[in-house]
Amino acid sequence: MSKKDTRKAVDAYFDEKLHISDETTQAILNKNEEEGLQSIEIASAHGKMLYLMAKMSGAKTILEIGTHGGFSTVWLARALPEGGRLATFEAKQKHARVAEENIAAAGFADRVEIFEGDAAKILHVLKKRGFEAFDFIFIDANKDNYPEYLEWALELSRSGTVIVADNVVRKGRIIEEDTEKKDIPHLRKFIDLLSGDDRVEATAIQTVGDKGYDGFLTAMVK
Ligand code: DHB
Ligand code: MG
Repeated sequence: MSKKDTRKAVDAYFDEKLHISDETTQAILNKNEEEGLQSIEIASAHGKMLYLMAKMSGAKTILEIGTHGGFSTVWLARALPEGGRLATFEAKQKHARVAEENIAAAGFADRVEIFEGDAAKILHVLKKRGFEAFDFIFIDANKDNYPEYLEWALELSRSGTVIVADNVVRKGRIIEEDTEKKDIPHLRKFIDLLSGDDRVEATAIQTVGDKGYDGFLTAMVK
């Protein structure tokens, strides 16, 4: 088996042994594919990890920046207790529509509010909508705006808020000196902002598996 196939097979092994995927999450992946959405959802194992992290932190309010088809949204919504709320932001109209259908089919329409539009421009509406400080924040939208999303995440936090960001490694391009294109400079700025901000403690984990080589960052507001 090639290294790549082994990594995929290891994901499949844990998926089965640890009962990670189920009909609901599989139905979302199927629908996203049928609707022609890019297959850039987080891995199922990471979805369950986000769910566990949100549950461990006792999150009652969750903010997601980057809904895509609602796959990570549903994983996160599952962690909410009765009365919990999740606000999720999606720039693309079609993605927001698919996500709305997936979230409703999964039974979370009452707890999840989708905000359609450019998150960097519309995150300010949250305060007017009664969201003050979130317990858990997941950043997984366009990488160009990660620095702005971090500012917003901190603005919408309290002591103890957990902030997780996807895609901080990008096959190692995050540290390659000559990688000045696309999302890398913005991701580096995001990391540099965190690096110089003593309001948070953070770490980053590199990941391999079904979705290739990438990584996620976890921070907690002091
Ligand atoms: C890609 C992967 C992601 O997880 C994401 O949020 C955006 C893009 C990608 O591989 O292109
Ligand atoms: Mg991502």
